[in-house]
Amino acid sequence: MGMTPLPVFVLLLLICFCKSDDRLTPAKPLSPGDKLVSNGGIFALGFFSLTNSTANSYIGIWYHHIPERTYVWVANRDNPIASSSHGKLVLTNGSNLVLSDSKGRTLWTTTNNIAADGLKAVAILLDSGNLVIRSPNGTDIWQSFHHPTDTMLPNMSLPLKNYTNFANHLVAWRGPDDPSTSNYSLGGDSSLQIFAWNGTRPYWRRAALDGVFVYAVYQGNSGPIMYQNIESRGDDFYLTYTVSKGTPSMRVLLHYTGMVKLLTWNGNSSSWDVFSEHPTPNCDRYASCGPFGYCDNTQAVPTCKCLDGFESDGLDFSVGCWRKKELHCSEEDSFVTLPNTKTPDDFLYIRNRSFDQCTAECSRNCSCTAYAYANLTSIGRTIDQSRCLVWMGELIDTSKRRDGLGENLYLRIPSLAVSKKKTGALKIVLPVIASLLILVCMYLIWMRKLRGRRQNKGHMDFGMQGQLSNSDEAYNQNSEFLRISFPDIVAATNDFSDSNVLGKGGFGRVYKGILEGGGEVAVKRLTKCSDQGIEHFVNEVVLIGKLQHRNLVRLLGYCIHGDEKLLMYEYLPNKSLDYLLFDDAIKSMLDWPTRFRIIKGIARGLLYLHEDSRMTIIHRDLKASNILLDADMRPKISDFGMARIFGDNQQQANTRHVVGTYGYMSPEYAMKGVFSVKSDAYSYGVLLLEVVSGLKISSPHHLIMDFRNLIDYAWNLLKDGNTRDFLDTVLLKSCSLHEVSLCIHVGLLCVQDSPSARPLMSLVVSMLDNEVMPLPTPKQPLYFVGKKHEAEEGRDNSVNTASLTTLAGR
Ligand SMILES: *[C@@H]1O[C@H](CO)[C@@H](O)[C@H](O)[C@H]1NC(C)=O
Ligand SMILES: *[C@@H]1O[C@H](CO)[C@@H](O)[C@H](O)[C@H]1NC(C)=O
Ligand SMILES: *[C@@H]1O[C@H](CO)[C@@H](O)[C@H](O)[C@H]1NC(C)=O
Ligand SMILES: *[C@@H]1O[C@H](CO)[C@@H](O)[C@H](O)[C@H]1NC(C)=O
Ligand SMILES: *[C@@H]1O[C@H](CO)[C@@H](O)[C@H](O)[C@H]1NC(C)=O
Ligand SMILES: *[C@@H]1O[C@H](CO)[C@@H](O)[C@H](O)[C@H]1NC(C)=O
Ligand SMILES: *[C@@H]1O[C@H](CO)[C@@H](O)[C@H](O)[C@H]1NC(C)=O
Ligand SMILES: *[C@@H]1O[C@H](CO)[C@@H](O)[C@H](O)[C@H]1NC(C)=O
Ligand SMILES: *[C@@H]1O[C@H](CO)[C@@H](O)[C@H](O)[C@H]1NC(C)=O
Ligand SMILES: *[C@@H]1O[C@H](CO)[C@@H](O)[C@H](O)[C@H]1NC(C)=O
Ligand SMILES: *[C@@H]1O[C@H](CO)[C@@H](O)[C@H](O)[C@H]1NC(C)=O
Repeated sequence: MGMTPLPVFVLLLLICFCKSDDRLTPAKPLSPGDKLVSNGGIFALGFFSLTNSTANSYIGIWYHHIPERTYVWVANRDNPIASSSHGKLVLTNGSNLVLSDSKGRTLWTTTNNIAADGLKAVAILLDSGNLVIRSPNGTDIWQSFHHPTDTMLPNMSLPLKNYTNFANHLVAWRGPDDPSTSNYSLGGDSSLQIFAWNGTRPYWRRAALDGVFVYAVYQGNSGPIMYQNIESRGDDFYLTYTVSKGTPSMRVLLHYTGMVKLLTWNGNSSSWDVFSEHPTPNCDRYASCGPFGYCDNTQAVPTCKCLDGFESDGLDFSVGCWRKKELHCSEEDSFVTLPNTKTPDDFLYIRNRSFDQCTAECSRNCSCTAYAYANLTSIGRTIDQSRCLVWMGELIDTSKRRDGLGENLYLRIPSLAVSKKKTGALKIVLPVIASLLILVCMYLIWMRKLRGRRQNKGHMDFGMQGQLSNSDEAYNQNSEFLRISFPDIVAATNDFSDSNVLGKGGFGRVYKGILEGGGEVAVKRLTKCSDQGIEHFVNEVVLIGKLQHRNLVRLLGYCIHGDEKLLMYEYLPNKSLDYLLFDDAIKSMLDWPTRFRIIKGIARGLLYLHEDSRMTIIHRDLKASNILLDADMRPKISDFGMARIFGDNQQQANTRHVVGTYGYMSPEYAMKGVFSVKSDAYSYGVLLLEVVSGLKISSPHHLIMDFRNLIDYAWNLLKDGNTRDFLDTVLLKSCSLHEVSLCIHVGLLCVQDSPSARPLMSLVVSMLDNEVMPLPTPKQPLYFVGKKHEAEEGRDNSVNTASLTTLAGR
């Protein structure tokens, strides 16, 4: 009463200071109105109530730096503090947190069994959102991350097995204002999968672990990145999420509606963006296509279909599909391979088997309908790396994935011989099969030879592993590339010796390595701690690990060691195209026939990426320094760190984060961030003009006479029919002027301003093979002519310049 205003103010200030601490000690309990704030101000812990002030209250953790109050953890979700009472959170001398109300009732407590004698533990709220009880020796005795409510935060791990003292389920709130436990939960099923459960019934499922060690999730085409890892500790698996540094807050939420949501904070709109949501409306719910049906996600609208050899009435998929032809359970039953499959539920997990043993396991038992095999080496498994799954009876909750992930499912089908009608048909069929067999055998022998030769040359061949596809350009369904041990890489590269450096790129250095057997490899060592580096790494492993084409560089293996991330490629002795092409002293090594072959080879590689592989892949950074040359000067496209996969019906995409090399970037990409197969076509056109002229797109103006740039120069010379002047002077003797004109013409078609006017790579390939007559006339490219300055401004305004690779390339 007698107090002057000043001491009151000081007192308040003192209270605020001591209570906005990040820790709780036995001497300092937490009362309503107080809160703990993590060191970096990211999370806060305190009392809250959800509806108006008269309601129950809870202890929970929320984001402190986000204006929209968002709870990520609630301690006493099923035991609220009544509105008439006050709560108090105390850390006891026995290292337990205890929440009690003013009547002295305990509403929530941790149950650590630690002797109370003088242990000076503290409870700390960390910037990850984890509340830990930390003993003086630094051990965390208890952590809220082991007792999640409905939210999974980055760095938290969810065990796939049931544990005591370690909750393995997220449980949804009952309603928007009611945090009590509902019937919806999400968690492991004691083997290899994750389910969302409605009570005891599953309504969504994530397929069994297949050894793909990481899935990356992007927002748009860059920006926030979340990695989903499966970690193996001993015999147990954990699901974890990590995010790259600088990404906005992200969380996985089991929403009170039962939806599994991945949310990211959008600071611009001050709200949570839903990044993904399951189950999606179209046949994503558990078993929605019935037994032996599957959800085909490669369709624009995913729809139910029947597995090979099965049929349905086409109306009601909930009853599933049935066999067109009964199995006879004979020795001749065979297996058909279904790639990119989300494996079905209800398998038997047979331990310690090789692939062949797994096949045998299924083929010898008539009730076995399918099997699948994976090697869990890549997720760091050390004991029993095999994962042999067999299905006895119905196959349920299967789908076909559109993103190139998923695995091979081997489905039992009746033997061919039994299913064919005898006599007449057989007479025709048998010779056909026989001749096919002969062809296949010849092909096998030929491939063996080829592989033998490759190995003799010292190139290791990890990709084929005896799996043969019907053409050497085909996607290799079973490619399993190696995880390589760090010591092996250190040995091969002479401990990353400077004398082994082959080059330096935006993401790190490339070293030459020599393997124990003498094979030569190139090792890319990604710069540590770079988020872009991680994205790049994931892209390369997930993407080019799955691609095979003679004009694409081969990834042989990878290594993760602490924060080292390394990629191993085939070694290409002739360096990169820019190295030879722009050096006056050695450019004559590239005579015209070689250059023409290089031009065609790049076109074929690009065509494969765009149209012929299972996915549509946009490279986004095609340039001379990304074309490597093998011993025969065959071009190989490399560096897929910025590549993007498109879905079946996707024509173009947008990014706010333009990455690429200026000069090779199409106008719509540089200015608006729009990319498509046509923006790769543009880069190809620029590359083509460089190969013909021996001039860089970024050449100083005086090198290209009076013209604004290389494209303008080419257009004006072609217009006048004067292709000879455009040609690299060292080529004058070896060239065919007809081929040169053709190339310049095609190049100019590719660099037209309007994406729709540029040809697809399939057309480019036919044009270069002289199969298209007459060629359309290219429009004059105006965009960069005289507008170069503006374009650069546009880039600077809209783009984080730090992410651009250097103008000149490496
Ligand atoms: C809180 O009270 C106000 C007015 O009493 C009411 O309009 C509002 O809906 C209440 N909020 C909630 C979440 O119940
Ligand atoms: C904790 O121990 C201290 C002395 O070590 C004692 O003064 C205090 O009363 C104890 N607190 C509780 C809640 O037992
Ligand atoms: C996750 O853990 C890593 C390594 O321990 C740490 O560097 C990172 O800051 C953590 N992330 C968050 C969001 O806490
Ligand atoms: C740290 O203290 C805890 C609790 O007293 C104990 O269980 C643990 O073994 C200790 N760890 C170390 C490394 O001393
Ligand atoms: C997990 O274990 C606990 C206790 O051991 C048990 O009550 C619970 O039902 C188990 N949950 C599942 C999904 O097996
Ligand atoms: C939750 O499950 C129980 C028993 O399984 C059932 O009685 C109850 O109605 C369910 N609640 C909701 C909201 O579905
Ligand atoms: C969960 O089950 C209840 C009935 O038991 C049903 O009303 C509800 O729609 C189900 N929810 C989901 C997400 O399947
Ligand atoms: C927020 O706005 C800034 C500037 O307009 C933009 O660069 C950024 O990409 C936006 N972020 C999101 C998440 O939309
Ligand atoms: C795995 O199988 C091999 C033989 O196939 C056997 O020698 C080995 O002991 C088995 N390992 C385990 C862990 O069962
Ligand atoms: C085939 O598998 C079923 C189910 O596991 C089992 O009951 C049966 O004994 C097996 N038959 C043979 C011949 O192994
Ligand atoms: C898994 O792959 C690694 C490397 O390719 C190999 O050494 C190991 O034998 C494989 N394990 C199984 C069970 O196939």
